[in-house]
Amino acid sequence: MTRFISGRTPTTNAEAFERALVVTPGGVNSPVRAFRSVGGTPVFLASGHGPYVRDVEGTEYVDLVGQWGPALLGHAHPDVIAAAHAAVDRGLGFGAASTGEVELAELVLDRLTLTGPDGAERRAIEKLRLVSTGTEATMTAIRLARGATGRPLLVKFAGHYHGHSDSLLSEAGSGIATLGIPGSAGITPETAAQTIVIPYNDEDALAAVFAAHGDRIAAVITEAAAANMGVVPPRPGFNRLLADTAHAHGALLISDEVMTGFRSTAAGWWGLEEREGVPYDADLTTFGKIIGGGLPLAGLGGRAEILDLLAPLGPVYQAGTLSGNPVAVATGAAMLRGAGPEVYDHLPRVARTIADGLSSALTAEGVAHTVAWAGSQFSIFFRDSAPQNYAEAQAQETWRFGPFFHAMLEHGVSLPPSVYEAWFVSAAHDDAAVERVLAAAAPAARAAAAAQPALQ
Ligand SMILES: Cc1ncc(COP(=O)(O)O)c(C=O)c1O
Repeated sequence: MTRFISGRTPTTNAEAFERALVVTPGGVNSPVRAFRSVGGTPVFLASGHGPYVRDVEGTEYVDLVGQWGPALLGHAHPDVIAAAHAAVDRGLGFGAASTGEVELAELVLDRLTLTGPDGAERRAIEKLRLVSTGTEATMTAIRLARGATGRPLLVKFAGHYHGHSDSLLSEAGSGIATLGIPGSAGITPETAAQTIVIPYNDEDALAAVFAAHGDRIAAVITEAAAANMGVVPPRPGFNRLLADTAHAHGALLISDEVMTGFRSTAAGWWGLEEREGVPYDADLTTFGKIIGGGLPLAGLGGRAEILDLLAPLGPVYQAGTLSGNPVAVATGAAMLRGAGPEVYDHLPRVARTIADGLSSALTAEGVAHTVAWAGSQFSIFFRDSAPQNYAEAQAQETWRFGPFFHAMLEHGVSLPPSVYEAWFVSAAHDDAAVERVLAAAAPAARAAAAAQPALQ
């Protein structure tokens, strides 16, 4: 007789959640999954294929969460699955150097090297260290920036999310925004004081923070295009201004491409700005999500002279039992190899069709809204103009999102369960999947129109 093991796999979402609540805080292993801001019982997923996911009750949804980014080619893409199977057959991990790590790094460096119109080669990064999560990548990036500069302070933007390490949770986006809290308990005031938070897209605030603390700032960290407070792209040239300002003061720019990396172009957000003629030079760039192909893998890249400060060459320590896991590097490489030009043509077209359909339905119901874009990533704000920063992103009729979300779910479409998250399409979202999303648009718009703000 056991106390906890029922020996039966739950067959309804309600049963799964009830059991999860007993053994896991809040019933989930990452807060946004708990549906706290939209209400109701979280959906427990059992499988995913192409653009669809299926819950434990057997209900199928068109998926616009995309594993929060990694599912660039859709779920269970045959090439990615084959690469995973082949790697598994060779062993799950060795804790020793293996050739797949080298091949993935070569692939990433290759993608992040572009030839300009003048024939000159530009490289976003020169070396890459693999870790297991985006949180680890950004945490290591700031330690490296402090080690390289010998300075203590970090500048971040309100509403940007870089994972859950102590230095990076102040006024963060994603789950912190969803739960409507300023940060996290358990972070010492001394640690919090080392991070200065300023408004995004605000040139004056940037100038002021460097005027006041320029010789003590190790780095500015920015999402290459913000997508954790809803999608809020940088103003044209803002990333370059960040790089130039940081460099003028001897500080570094950390560009966080955990979300944007390899999503809108084969060279990530950096590649998009290169193409559009506003190139910027980040000293360190973080990756995650897509480069792991759906398994836990992330990376930290940058100029060789900075990356070589990492152990074993340099004095900045970083390590990981699971870093560069052979199964994860194999799936990551398969994902990147599958992400050809046709994928980057397809994504914005599909995203645009879905966004236009939803926007028309909301307009027909008289619901004030804006679709905000960063490459092929988008999100809907319930306000009538695109926000430039976190304060503006919060100034929307957030209470319309819950009913909108649940109407979409009832009509077979799974959205991120928060108004502050970006939506993800994939190469597998075909006409049939798009049709199903568009069919849900009218009822979802009606639900948003009928929504009422909660009584205070
Ligand atoms: C921009 C950005 N940086 C870092 C992270 C943290 O990555 P992880 O959840 O793998 O720790 C995320 C996660 O969503 C992210 O969007």
